[in-house]
Amino acid sequence: MTQRTAETLSAALYRDPAVYEEERKLVFAKSWILFAHESQLSKPGAYVASRMAGFALLAVKGEDGAVRAFHNVCRHRAGPLVDDGAGDCGNALLCRYHGWRYALDGRLASARDFGPASDFDPRDFGLIPLQCAMWHGFVFVNMDRNASDFEQTIAPLEKKASAMALERFTRVRHSEHLLKCNWKTYVENYLEGYHIPVLHPALNASLGSTYGVEIDPPVQFYHATPREGSAVAGLWAWQWPCLGVNVYADGVLMERMWPVDHGHTKLDYLFLFAEDADEASIRRAVAASEVTTAEDILICEAVQQNLNAGVYEKGRLSPKHEAGVAWFQTQIRRALDR
Ligand code: FES
Ligand SMILES: [Fe+2]
Repeated sequence: MTQRTAETLSAALYRDPAVYEEERKLVFAKSWILFAHESQLSKPGAYVASRMAGFALLAVKGEDGAVRAFHNVCRHRAGPLVDDGAGDCGNALLCRYHGWRYALDGRLASARDFGPASDFDPRDFGLIPLQCAMWHGFVFVNMDRNASDFEQTIAPLEKKASAMALERFTRVRHSEHLLKCNWKTYVENYLEGYHIPVLHPALNASLGSTYGVEIDPPVQFYHATPREGSAVAGLWAWQWPCLGVNVYADGVLMERMWPVDHGHTKLDYLFLFAEDADEASIRRAVAASEVTTAEDILICEAVQQNLNAGVYEKGRLSPKHEAGVAWFQTQIRRALDR
């Protein structure tokens, strides 16, 4: 039986700043986001801070050992508490603007030299908290207090977690790429293997001919059989809306596809390797990923320019190879109510 094709999203959705503003609120502010790994938060005061879709977020380990996450935004006049990156803030988060001090659990401990005020209760000015959940050492956050249950979101990945043996991985390497394209342009590239034989000769040579997609919402899995000696393990997953999971022989790359604005995307790579992984296999995995990423960046930036140019309006998706893209686009239509 022949299948019907799906029509792509219209090009305007990839270039319109107003669409991006909607996505910030309707997609990113409502989704579970992989934010850090617990090995980055080893003792009280250790924090990770980063900007995702314009939201400044931070996760910090408390005196009680619990990891909590907050907006990195002071309740006085919106100053940042910490710079982006990983570090140690000691026993308090100190605003870098006028020095308000917050306990590691988010309470406002002192509004420095504020002056007497009858209508100001510091208890009303704690940091804005995020939901926080742990999964095999990974810290996920969600800005939406009424967000869907984390267990339900993570269930598809959890089914495959034993195949990934994530607990072995404790050595973090971090790298970033800034792309001149809309985040959806990059995500959709990730969601299909159709382009692999054309765009990625090295990756293609390391894989057998089978490439299967399995959609288990909100996750998609891609399977291929790696050839002998390949750096990749032949298993990739992607979780709505912006997380790729690339499994290597001796590690895993959590690939965060985070929008910066409507026309720029940051690839924030959290590589994790086993404590005893040898340096050569780490270098091989990182190098294989860098080659594939460089090829994807070039094509995604070229595609984005064409989407911006106003000639192409809509295309069709291959029923054989692009079911993952079609699923993603359906979720975008649903989220934006279009
Ligand atoms: S903005 Fe934080 S102390 Fe003023
Ligand atoms: Fe690719």
